[in-house]
Amino acid sequence: MTGQPAWLILGGSRGIGAGLVEACLSRGYPTLATYRAGRPGALTALEDAYPDQLHLFECDVASDDSVRALAAATDGLAIGTVIFNAGVFGQRTDGFAGSDTADMMSAFNVNALGFVRTLDAFAGRLEGERRHITAITSLFGSNSKPGQGHLAYRASKAALNRIITATAPELKAQCVTLTAFRPGWVRTEMNGMTGDVSPRESGEGIVRTLEAAGPDASGTLLDYTGITLDW
Ligand SMILES: NC(=O)c1ccc[n+]([C@@H]2O[C@H](COP(=O)([O-])OP(=O)(O)OC[C@H]3O[C@@H](n4cnc5c(N)ncnc54)[C@H](OP(=O)(O)O)[C@@H]3O)[C@@H](O)[C@H]2O)c1
Repeated sequence: MTGQPAWLILGGSRGIGAGLVEACLSRGYPTLATYRAGRPGALTALEDAYPDQLHLFECDVASDDSVRALAAATDGLAIGTVIFNAGVFGQRTDGFAGSDTADMMSAFNVNALGFVRTLDAFAGRLEGERRHITAITSLFGSNSKPGQGHLAYRASKAALNRIITATAPELKAQCVTLTAFRPGWVRTEMNGMTGDVSPRESGEGIVRTLEAAGPDASGTLLDYTGITLDW
């Protein structure tokens, strides 16, 4: 690992997470990335290509113990930026009828509580001049956008958004910038590869926007193209 603080990506195994890992590596950043279980071949290949720059860790953000174990495993490594990318869509529904509450709990546990665990583990130990924590959210969770159904995803992303806006002032006072990102409509397994943006393009845009985002961005919803969006 080089001297500058690392970028930590939670949920780097595939899709947008893999695009974020590639974007960080191509810019020369020390990079820490997590996968859930069974190290994906693509990440192993990147680790082989960037042995001094990329380090992989197992982490399930749905588990308190697993996120604490990640914090312990990375203890002693300087981290400056954390990107919480892990996410699940949950049950797909047209309306509220038939919503499976166990499935909704599961989506909340990953999409919203996973971020709380991440804040708890890492907000107080960031290093460097530019300390930033962000989460990949979705316009499905925005009250400024119309839409119905898919309640597990919408409601859990709305909770994630509110956790960010409610916590950003507190972290700003501790010199940590807290934001959320809309990654674009990205071709990944989550949307059946129907997006119009590649994971690499989205990852590059997010990392580029993060590089330019100072404390004034605290509490904002950013787009991968660099513009600020309404919550
Ligand atoms: N694709 C889009 O157009 C789009 C739009 C808006 C927002 N987003 C958001 O972008 C993020 C990435 O989504 P994607 O499109 O790249 O979907 P994806 O291909 O389904 O990838 C989801 C990622 O989240 C990880 N993950 C899921 N549950 C986890 C857990 N409990 N612990 C740790 N990691 C976990 C997955 O790891 P495994 O490989 O272990 O399952 C995978 O790396 C999500 O937060 C999603 O909501 C996507």
